[in-house]
Amino acid sequence: MRFIQITDTHLGPTPDYLLRGTNTYRILEKLVDLINRLPFQAEFVIHTGDVIDDMSAESYKVAKSVLERIKRPIYYLVGNHDNTTHLQKILLGKKSAKKRLDYQFEAGGVEFAVFDTHGNKDPSGLLLPEQIKLLREICKPRGKPLMIVTHHQPVPLDVPWLDNGAIDWMPGQFMKIENSEEFLDAILPARKRIRGVMFGHVHRGFQTTHKGIFFFSSPSSSAQLESWPDSKKPDSSDDEMPGFNIVTVDADGIIVRQHHFRP
Ligand SMILES: [Fe+2]
Repeated sequence: MRFIQITDTHLGPTPDYLLRGTNTYRILEKLVDLINRLPFQAEFVIHTGDVIDDMSAESYKVAKSVLERIKRPIYYLVGNHDNTTHLQKILLGKKSAKKRLDYQFEAGGVEFAVFDTHGNKDPSGLLLPEQIKLLREICKPRGKPLMIVTHHQPVPLDVPWLDNGAIDWMPGQFMKIENSEEFLDAILPARKRIRGVMFGHVHRGFQTTHKGIFFFSSPSSSAQLESWPDSKKPDSSDDEMPGFNIVTVDADGIIVRQHHFRP
């Protein structure tokens, strides 16, 4: 079973919108064209959040005009730059919107559990008590191979501004899921079933094993941020290309392939 992870496209309300000097609309058009021409089968695309940059309805209309050209089913997550209601009503065409966009689905014998981790203190993430309860119900020791999907990262990544917050730049604000210890405690019983916990948000590809579970992110599908082991705040990275993940899951394991493309 194979799928594509895209993330953090950060579209604006007009096609000429710039994110830190990058035209995200033009890059998304290129990405969609590339995905449609991939020379192999992939069951679906999953967008791990921050579809748009400014929470506006206009930006979702712009995003939809490009993303609806993808010739595969596409799933969405809510990121800290997203508006949960606009995302469901405009992008997904729903009549009413849930407060939290959590859902589960199955593909090729693999279970996917998607959690909306938008927090109260942007840009940090949070799982509500009822979400932790649901996570515990899903994460039984026995069952099909399982993938857990969030926007925010639940693990340390050896980068000060991602792990502890950019102390001087945005005091008191954090990038991680605030209650990540609760999250980890809830998923641990399913350790042998979990093929991976995947996320976006951090604007670069990471892979890490934490407490015996594999965690990974996709490069941003628009622009990367510098995240060295001593980076204290998020600086733009000018020399790295946008990208996405090609993920293959089977009964025995997982392969995550990062692909970058010229903007
Ligand atoms: Fe984000």
